[in-house]
Amino acid sequence: MHFEIIVGSVLGASEYVADAVEQFLNDKNHTCQIHLNPSLVEIPQDKRWIIICSTHGAGELPENIQAFAGELDNIKLSNKCLIIGLGDISYDTFCQGSITMQEKLESSGSQIMLPPLHIDVLNHPVPEEYAIEWLNDNFSAIE
Ligand SMILES: Cc1cc2nc3c(=O)[nH]c(=O)nc-3n(C[C@H](O)[C@H](O)[C@H](O)COP(=O)(O)O)c2cc1C
Repeated sequence: MHFEIIVGSVLGASEYVADAVEQFLNDKNHTCQIHLNPSLVEIPQDKRWIIICSTHGAGELPENIQAFAGELDNIKLSNKCLIIGLGDISYDTFCQGSITMQEKLESSGSQIMLPPLHIDVLNHPVPEEYAIEWLNDNFSAIE
């Protein structure tokens, strides 16, 4: 199976999670493409997508994923996706960036395979470890 890994990140933590997810999936004989500057032109819409996205500002999306998020407003999807959000529980807008992506994907018709994972980076200082644990525990639901 092939996964498109779509990253929204400012400081790089979500990129580390994306690298770990890619490694995990490769070890299970799946292929992945990581998109650090995501654009619909380059991302096949019939593949499974994994969105890995932090939150910045006051509940805002990282700048690198904002244009892509806008593109989702104008398309119909029928693929499956997974969402991993990174955030800091001390904000009222905890993981709002990934929630925004979830809402856009659901409105586009994409099927969210599992309830999204929201990683509080205060409690999980190595977020990629927590993400892989979650993926491993739930893997049967996404294959
Ligand atoms: C200026 C700033 C604003 C932030 N705002 C939020 C926020 O509104 N909600 C939230 O859950 N986390 C917020 N965070 C926490 C980040 O989402 C968290 O540190 C995350 O791990 C960053 O991931 P990244 O390195 O992939 O960008 C903020 C962090 C910074 C530095």
